[in-house]
Amino acid sequence: MPTLVRPENMERITTPALAERFIEEQINDVRKEVGDKKVLLALSGGVDSSVVAALLIRAIGRQLVCVHVNHGLLRKGEPEQVIRVFKDEMDANLIYVDAVDRFLSKLAGVSDPETKRKIIGNEFIEVFAEEARKLEGIAFLAQGTIWPDILESEHGIKAHHNAGGLPEDLKFKLVEPVRILFKDEVRVVGKALGLPDGMVYRQPFPGPGLGVRCLGAITRDRLEAVRESDAILREEFANNGLAGKVWQYFTIVPDFRSVGIKDGRRCDDWPVIIRAVNTRDAMTATVEDIPFALLSRITDRITHEVRGVNRVLYDLTPKPTGTIEWE
Ligand code: XMP
Repeated sequence: MPTLVRPENMERITTPALAERFIEEQINDVRKEVGDKKVLLALSGGVDSSVVAALLIRAIGRQLVCVHVNHGLLRKGEPEQVIRVFKDEMDANLIYVDAVDRFLSKLAGVSDPETKRKIIGNEFIEVFAEEARKLEGIAFLAQGTIWPDILESEHGIKAHHNAGGLPEDLKFKLVEPVRILFKDEVRVVGKALGLPDGMVYRQPFPGPGLGVRCLGAITRDRLEAVRESDAILREEFANNGLAGKVWQYFTIVPDFRSVGIKDGRRCDDWPVIIRAVNTRDAMTATVEDIPFALLSRITDRITHEVRGVNRVLYDLTPKPTGTIEWE
């Protein structure tokens, strides 16, 4: 792609008109670069890869091959949304890979957080590479790299998680159409491309997904408790005007139980921990002042609707001293 560096004087994309102009430019560039070759994209359903997918579908249609890997650690409804939006509505050339059993068996019994992250990352590359090898005529790899990723890897803040990773025989040329954009601009472009608000204004979600919120060694039943409680929290935040206001909010299920009482009987169940924080850059964070009545309602729903849970706790810890995630 010709535009590798964000020009110093580039106007911030804040309006649909500016977004359209950017989209048109990128479409021309991509068509010129790609010709009649195929482009491969790992489509997680996150903001960046979704915007890249929508943009490339406009530019080259079914020459874009999207691979959506369901690793079993996605939030409730996410794989379905990816299929609905991209396959059903945009007629994307989408390959859906159900890799749930593969990931969960690799993770079975593993409790160290960094080992869990490594397994999830490596397994992802393996599954993606297997799919790539089945395909013919792929010449390019599209990535949702954005400008802060470039800046942060230049300054050694984080190893850019999108960069590289694929084995030698799969070193395709990169297509990175949102590379020079800041996150807010990616959202404006995504909106202009017709992506649903639920996708464009999504809160950040870590690559290892619910895997780092199901603390310790992941089990299917506890993972289900994380997924179901998270869905309830998101629904209640959306219904009470907090969804677009709070920066990140989710639930955590630790790997211990406490005694409780349900239907007149003693039960040993897990607690669910709620985290809801505000921040500018995720380096520090403050805790959202959730109204007590709403906390009570969420507690009532989670303890009655989520199997295996008998308590709900609210994490009142800012960052520092607590990090945003629990592991
Ligand atoms: P912490 O927990 O370090 O999180 O305060 C800061 C932000 O980073 C996200 N996070 C991750 N994102 N892979 C990711 O892609 C990870 O392994 C990871 N760990 C934390 C976290 O959700 C928060 O937004």
